[in-house]
Amino acid sequence: MRSVEDLPTPAVLVDLDVVEKNLTRMAERARAAGVKLRPHAKTHKVPEIGRMQLALGAAGLSLAKVGEAEVFVHAGFDDIFLAYPTIGGDRARRLLALSDRAKIRVGADSLEGARSLSEVFAAARRRLAVVLKIDCGYHRVGVEPGRALELARAIAELPGLELAGVFTHAGQAYSTETTQGVADVGRLEGETVAAVASELRAAGLPVAEVSVGSTPTAFSSMKVKGVTECRPGNYVYHDGSQVALGTCTSKDCAMTVAATVVSVPAQDRAVVDAGSKTLSSDILRPRPGGHGLVLGTSSRIDRLSEEHGVVAVAPGDRFRVGQRVAILPNHACVVSNLHERVYGVRAGSVECEWRVAARGRVD
Ligand SMILES: Cc1ncc(COP(=O)(O)O)c(C=O)c1O
Repeated sequence: MRSVEDLPTPAVLVDLDVVEKNLTRMAERARAAGVKLRPHAKTHKVPEIGRMQLALGAAGLSLAKVGEAEVFVHAGFDDIFLAYPTIGGDRARRLLALSDRAKIRVGADSLEGARSLSEVFAAARRRLAVVLKIDCGYHRVGVEPGRALELARAIAELPGLELAGVFTHAGQAYSTETTQGVADVGRLEGETVAAVASELRAAGLPVAEVSVGSTPTAFSSMKVKGVTECRPGNYVYHDGSQVALGTCTSKDCAMTVAATVVSVPAQDRAVVDAGSKTLSSDILRPRPGGHGLVLGTSSRIDRLSEEHGVVAVAPGDRFRVGQRVAILPNHACVVSNLHERVYGVRAGSVECEWRVAARGRVD
């Protein structure tokens, strides 16, 4: 078996023991809370990992883009939720083709967007399941709870569509600075969407699924009464931001980037062969703090260009040219998207190589 040391750098490594532990723990928590787990596969984009999630009881997968769904459906997945406002005739026609082979649900937060799907599905005499996105305070996409009933009614009346539920995502948790604050955001996430579901049901609308989910808020939001489904994604790998948020410890982080020191131009500066093309330029959350921690040291990458990661050498740390280092990235999901493959490692050996099959599918 190949040793990790033999891999050319930069290379993305995933520790298989940690991945398995992370997947099992989340599956157990969802089971204990009595909700379906529908992991967001945006984090790994790897069908082999999706299969591990299903084997542990996941009800299906969440994704964002139709192009990602195409990759996963072609790989044999038959139950996908596009947790993203999916709009447009071209995408609707691709969804129609996919829905011959898989159960597909998509997110919607506007009547215009829903109409563009309705036209295609009604003309084909088919029905697409649509889930209404609710804004629980992140203020990215999603209808304000107070306007949800009006929009849900209008969508439910469109031919070719079927209202299948409501969903939300509390991305504001990533800028919340205390673990108590993150748990409070999770409760608000669950309570907001559960309250909208009750209002819609009282008005006679069908709301089968009440879906929440992010990795930091998963444990609190999935426990809220009325929630039926949870969609964490990042938990498969975790990353520097999850550690900083208090979601996990560095031992729970499965993804590292193997890099090599290519230059030590000054005592307080070392440069590795992993820049923004490898690590992305995503900042550490909830507070900025460099672009990746060099594991086993106190030093962080504090500057990036495309092919250079400039390490601010902390007092007491030493680097030499040719030294291999392991970097804990700030944000695992975007690192996945930048790489053709990830290496599954156990006890220093490369056990498997996975193609990041759904990377780059932005359409
Ligand atoms: C709509 C939606 N659902 C679920 C998730 C998963 O969240 P996380 O990556 O924190 O696990 C995301 C992540 O961006 C998302 O945008």
